[in-house]
Amino acid sequence: MIVPGPILLLGAPGVGKGTQAKELVQHWGIPQISTGDLLRANVAQGTPLGKTAKEIMHRGELVPDSLVNEMVAVRLQQPDTVKGYILDGFPRTLAQAHWLDGRLAMQTEALPLVAVSIQVDYNQLLRRITGRRNCPVCQTIYNVYSKPPQRAGFCDVEGAALTQRSDDTEKAFAERMRAYAAQTAPVIEHYRELGRFIEVPGDGQIAAIAAGIVAAVERLRK
Ligand code: AP5
Repeated sequence: MIVPGPILLLGAPGVGKGTQAKELVQHWGIPQISTGDLLRANVAQGTPLGKTAKEIMHRGELVPDSLVNEMVAVRLQQPDTVKGYILDGFPRTLAQAHWLDGRLAMQTEALPLVAVSIQVDYNQLLRRITGRRNCPVCQTIYNVYSKPPQRAGFCDVEGAALTQRSDDTEKAFAERMRAYAAQTAPVIEHYRELGRFIEVPGDGQIAAIAAGIVAAVERLRK
């Protein structure tokens, strides 16, 4: 099996970054680093970062770059990132992208990153966001329309009551899409221009999308 190196999953809210990251973790055995999950954990623990991020996230806006970069820097120091990692939802601004590019450029032994852009149309995204439910124990992601649990409202694995994210409302989704168009779409263009860039449609079977990403990354790494 190849050494995957750093993989970026980029795309609008709800395209399936988290869902695909979990498939890729299974395949390559490298960690998923979701800045959204890390921030939600800080909110749940009531850390100073979480206190700052809570309302910003609830409104669907982006948390300041310096705070997110610092959080990612700490996570990337963990030894489980040596063979690679999947960055889910980072970088999301050009400032974050330049910070990451600079950091990787200093690590001469590190493989260059591969950026994966996932695309789904607006109406489908809205349905995915408003239909999403999460298991608070094992983090399995469900969807009441496309991936319902066997027993409505409860996790198939844990039996725990499923929860809904506070930013998975129509109002916050509209703001998240505005932030995406203004701040994250330029990041996608940045990596398209740099090369080692893969574009995949995010509708269809989850396993088939993941297989497409794996094949494309492995072609680039050979
Ligand atoms: P974050 O948690 O990263 O949210 P997001 O980018 O808006 O993405 P989502 O988690 O909503 O969607 P996803 O693409 O992971 O889709 P998923 O796989 O869950 O960020 C939240 C907030 O944190 C931000 O708004 C911001 O405030 C802050 N933040 C995070 N990172 C930041 C950063 N770098 N800088 C600054 N601020 C930051 O799937 C969605 C649904 O679709 C699920 O129900 C799933 O089951 C379903 N689904 C998935 N794939 C399929 C498929 N193929 N077919 C049908 N349904 C599918």
